[in-house]
Amino acid sequence: MKQVMRLIESLGECHRQLPFLRWVAETDNASAERKLRLGLFGAPFALSFRDANRYHTSYGAGTNLTPQQRVLSTHAAEDGSHSRLFLRDARTLNWDALTGFTAGQSLYWLTAHPHTETDRAGAIRLSAQLSSTSNPRLRYPVVEAMEVAGHAFFVEAVKLARRFEEATGQALVYWGDEHLAMEDGHARGDESVFDVELTPDERTAAMSMVTSLFADQDRRCAHLLHWGQKAEVANPVGIFAIRPDQASGPTAAEETLWETVAQLSAHSSQKPLLDRLRHQMDSLAHVSRAHRAQNQNEPLSVLRSALLFSAAETAWLPGIFRYVLSYPTPLGADEAAVNELAASLPAVVPPAGMSQDWRLLSMDNWLEWGFADTAEFLHLDEATEPARELRAAVTGHLAQASDPVVRAWVALAVCAGVQMRQEVAAAAAGELWPDPLAALPLLVGHGQIPPTARESLAHLLNMPVTEPAARQIGEAVEDITAAYTRCAQAEKVL
Ligand SMILES: [Fe+2]
Ligand SMILES: [Fe+2]
Repeated sequence: MKQVMRLIESLGECHRQLPFLRWVAETDNASAERKLRLGLFGAPFALSFRDANRYHTSYGAGTNLTPQQRVLSTHAAEDGSHSRLFLRDARTLNWDALTGFTAGQSLYWLTAHPHTETDRAGAIRLSAQLSSTSNPRLRYPVVEAMEVAGHAFFVEAVKLARRFEEATGQALVYWGDEHLAMEDGHARGDESVFDVELTPDERTAAMSMVTSLFADQDRRCAHLLHWGQKAEVANPVGIFAIRPDQASGPTAAEETLWETVAQLSAHSSQKPLLDRLRHQMDSLAHVSRAHRAQNQNEPLSVLRSALLFSAAETAWLPGIFRYVLSYPTPLGADEAAVNELAASLPAVVPPAGMSQDWRLLSMDNWLEWGFADTAEFLHLDEATEPARELRAAVTGHLAQASDPVVRAWVALAVCAGVQMRQEVAAAAAGELWPDPLAALPLLVGHGQIPPTARESLAHLLNMPVTEPAARQIGEAVEDITAAYTRCAQAEKVL
C-alpha cells in the first residue's frame, strides 16, 4: 500500500500545478462571486458525490464490517453529506437568478447539457470505478486520491469564500472554512488499518485506478477553468441560454421493446432469463398500477408527477450508457455490439426537461422551480432516493461485468423498466388525449429501440451464456426490478 500512497503523493503534486488551481488562487480584480460561478459547471459532480459515497464507497452501517470496511463507511457517511452544503451555497449565491433556469432547463443543465458533460463523465466514472470492486484495499486508494485532489482545490477555493463573505456578509458552507476543516486531504477514521501488504495484482489494479482517477480530475479541472473563465464576465447570460428546441425529442415508437425482443431468436441458454425478466416486469407493472390506483387523482396531476419522477429515474441513463456500458477500447464483435447498443440506447431515454411532453404538460409553470429546487429534487429529495438507488444499481452491475452479454442484459433490464413505467403512465394520458402516444412521445412512447441497436441486441441474445454469467444476469435483473418497484411505490402526486 505504501507504494500506492507514494504514487498518489506524486500525482497529487502534479495536480497542484494545474493552471486551474492557479486561476482559483489568483486574487485579481474579479469579484469572488463571479469566480465561484465555476461551481455551476461542476454541479453534477458535487451533487452526485453523495451517491458515490453512499452507494459506491460505503459498505453500509452493519455491525459485522471489517475494520477496513468500517473506515470507508464512516468516511463515506461524512463526505456524502457535503452535497447538501453545495446546494445551500447555490441558494446563497443565488444561482437561480444568475441562470434564470426553469425546472426543465435546470434538469437539462444537470443531466444532459454539453457545458456540463465533462463534469458528468467524471462523476459517473468515479462511481463506476468504486463499484467495479468490492475490495476495500482497492476502494481506499481511490478515496484517498480523491481526498488529495479535493484538498488541493478547497485550500484555494476557501479564499474566494472568505472574500465573498467580506463583501456580502454571507457565509458559504461548501466553499468556505467549514468544509475545508473536513477536507484535510485524508480519509476519515483510523487509516492505519490500510497499512498492509497488497498482492501484486491488487497493487497493479490500485495504481491503475489511482492514475485514471487523477486523469479524470485533471480533465474536470481543465473544464472548470474553461467555463469558469467564460462565466466570470459581467453578464454571462449567453452561456446559460437554453433554447427549448436544443434537445431533439424522441420519435414515437412503432413497436414496444417486448415486440422487438420477441422477434429476435434468443439462444436456448438465454430463454429462461427472458422469461424471468418478463415475469418481473409484469409484477412491476402490477405494483405501479396498484400504487396509482391507491392515489386517485385527476389525470393531469398524475401525468405531471409521472413525468417528473420518470425524469429522475432516467435522466442519467444516457451518461451511464456512454461511460459505463460501452467498452473504451472494444475487442471483437461482441464488445463492438455492446458499444453499438450504448450509442443507440440514449434515444430511448432522451432529456426529459426539454421534451415535447414537458412543454405540453406546462411543467415549468406548474413546478415554478429554479436551479436550486430542481437540483434538490433530483439529488437530495427523499422521494427520489429510489431513483438514485436505481442509478447506482445499474452503474454497479455494469461496472462489475466484463462479459458483453451480461452488460447487454443490464441495459435490456433498464430499458424494459423504463418502458413498463411508461405503459402505466399511458393509461392516465389516455383519459386526457385520444392518441396519447402522439401527444406525449417521451412519457408513453415505449422507448423505441433504433434499428442499429436491434441488430446488436439480436447478436448478443443469440450467444450462449455460461452458468456464472447467467447467475450474474439474474442478480442484476432482480436488483434493477427491485429498484424500479421502489421507484413506483415512492412516486407521489405533487
Ligand atoms: Fe467534502
Ligand atoms: Fe472529502
